Amino acid sequence: MSKAIYPGSFDPVTKGHLDIIKRASKILDHVTVAVLENPRKVATFDIEQRVEMLHLVTKDYSNVEVDYYKGLLIDYAQNKNISIIVKGLRAMSDFEFEFQMALVNQKLNSSIETMFMMTNNKYSYLSSSIVKEIAALGGDISSLVPPEVYNMIVEKYK
Ligand SMILES: Nc1ncnc2c1ncn2[C@@H]1O[C@H](COP(=O)(O)OP(=O)(O)OP(=O)(O)O)[C@@H](O)[C@H]1O
Ligand SMILES: [Mg+2]
Repeated sequence: MSKAIYPGSFDPVTKGHLDIIKRASKILDHVTVAVLENPRKVATFDIEQRVEMLHLVTKDYSNVEVDYYKGLLIDYAQNKNISIIVKGLRAMSDFEFEFQMALVNQKLNSSIETMFMMTNNKYSYLSSSIVKEIAALGGDISSLVPPEVYNMIVEKYK
C-alpha cells in the first residue's frame, strides 16, 4: 500500500495546497496531510486552527487524513509506516530548498522517498504568505482559498 505524507505549515491552507492534496490522493492509497508545529516560526493561525481548516477542506476525501507533528518529519513518517513524502514545486526558488531537504531526508532514512508534484499552472503564484498579505490589506481572497475556510481567514484580519 502506498502511504504518503504531505507536510507543510498550511498557515492557512490555500487552493494551491488543496490541488496537491487532490492530485496526490488520486495516485496514492493514503495521504496524511501533516501540519508542522515549528517552534522557530511564528504562525498566524495556531496549530488547532490549521488542522481544523485542513479537516474542513478534505472532509470528502476518504483516503486523506490530517495530523500535526513536531520534530523530524522523517521520524514521524517512519513511526506511521509512511514511505513517501509529497512536496509541491512552484518555482526554481522552491526547488533549491526542497532539493536540499530531499537529500538530507534521504541521508537520514534511505527507505523514505520524496516525490515532487508540479504546481497547477493556475496556482503557481499562490502561497499562504500571499493570501495573508492580501487579506491584511483588505483585498479579495475568495479565489485563492477554499470556500470552507474563507471566513476563518477574513475574520482573523478584521
Ligand atoms: N500553489 C502551490 N502549488 C504547488 N505546491 C504548493 C503551492 N503552495 C504550497 N505548495 C507546497 O505545499 C507544501 C507546503 O507549503 P507551505 O505550508 O510552506 O505553504 P506556502 O504556501 O509556501 O506558505 P508560506 O508562504 O508560509 O511559505 C510545500 O511542499 C510547498 O511547495
Ligand atoms: Mg513555503
